[in-house]
Amino acid sequence: MEKKTILTGIRPTGHLHIGHYFGASRNWVKLQDKFDTYIEIADVQALTDNFNNPDKVRKSVQDLVIDLLSVGVDPNKATIFLQSTIPEIAELTVFYSNLVTIARLERNPTVKTEIKQKKELFGEKGESITYGFLGYPVSQAADITAFKGNLVPVGDDQLPLLEQCREIVRKFNSIYGKTLVEPEAYLSEIPRIKGLDGNEKMGKSLGNAIFLADDEETVRKKIMDAVTDPNKIKIDDKANPDVCMVYYYHKLIKNENLETVCKECKSGKRGCVACKKELVTKMLEFLKPIAEKRKYYENHPEEVKEILKEGSKKAKKVAEKTLKEVKEKMKINYFD
Ligand code: TRP
Repeated sequence: MEKKTILTGIRPTGHLHIGHYFGASRNWVKLQDKFDTYIEIADVQALTDNFNNPDKVRKSVQDLVIDLLSVGVDPNKATIFLQSTIPEIAELTVFYSNLVTIARLERNPTVKTEIKQKKELFGEKGESITYGFLGYPVSQAADITAFKGNLVPVGDDQLPLLEQCREIVRKFNSIYGKTLVEPEAYLSEIPRIKGLDGNEKMGKSLGNAIFLADDEETVRKKIMDAVTDPNKIKIDDKANPDVCMVYYYHKLIKNENLETVCKECKSGKRGCVACKKELVTKMLEFLKPIAEKRKYYENHPEEVKEILKEGSKKAKKVAEKTLKEVKEKMKINYFD
């Protein structure tokens, strides 16, 4: 039986944090053994939001590839590629843009939330909403369909984008004949990791994340500042671990003393400072193998570049094939 294709993407706008790790990239490492796996560094999509900050996107590409390799994405199994090196994706985006109404894009819940956030940041003028930004779901549909992705591992915030992609596929196939594959979401067991501040989501820009690339001192500082049960004031107060972020991370990284941590917290036998110190030790142990791999790749930037270049070359061949089929079906294959 033919292997199914997995396609996922990530915007290069900063380093990966442990929320990305537990919610996403850890799964990609597992999936790469079973599926034909493509991981897109979505620099063109990152630019829809950061067109005035090309340096940030440029630097993040390299950082992100190193992050992915450090957590165990294996370039011999998975294809890591750069969106901007595949013009076929941009061409597909143009063709698909006829199949989507502006009203439909404006109704997309993910886009709606992002527009709302932008308005909060930049005011009501709405000038921050570009044609490119509004259309990024179309471009994301091109990312997925260029590789005939069957499964798309994403967080639940991405489901509306996937639904939009499926609509585009159905419309394309009904007008031009069956060509594209309708993808399905592949949700991870832990869709979302909470932040150090207790926020429901750990986010790059929320200042509540532990990054895989953080050094020891930074990890220590962040954990020592993490939110614990606000009702515990004195060292021997009894506390509720279920509202404590320190306990939450003990659990997340599978501290083998978890039961003791829980019992001592509930009975008032354990102070928060000691509990945090234990978490620092465990977290650093957890991050150590990742940090070691990172060091290797940081010292071998040419190798990292080569991996991305080779992956992009391989991905381009696949996208070329899809584009050829699409153009045939659309009757714009004049000179073939
Ligand atoms: N929009 C996704 C995010 O912000 C990134 C992305 C780009 C993506 N292209 C994709 C995800 C294709 C899945 C499939 O996280």
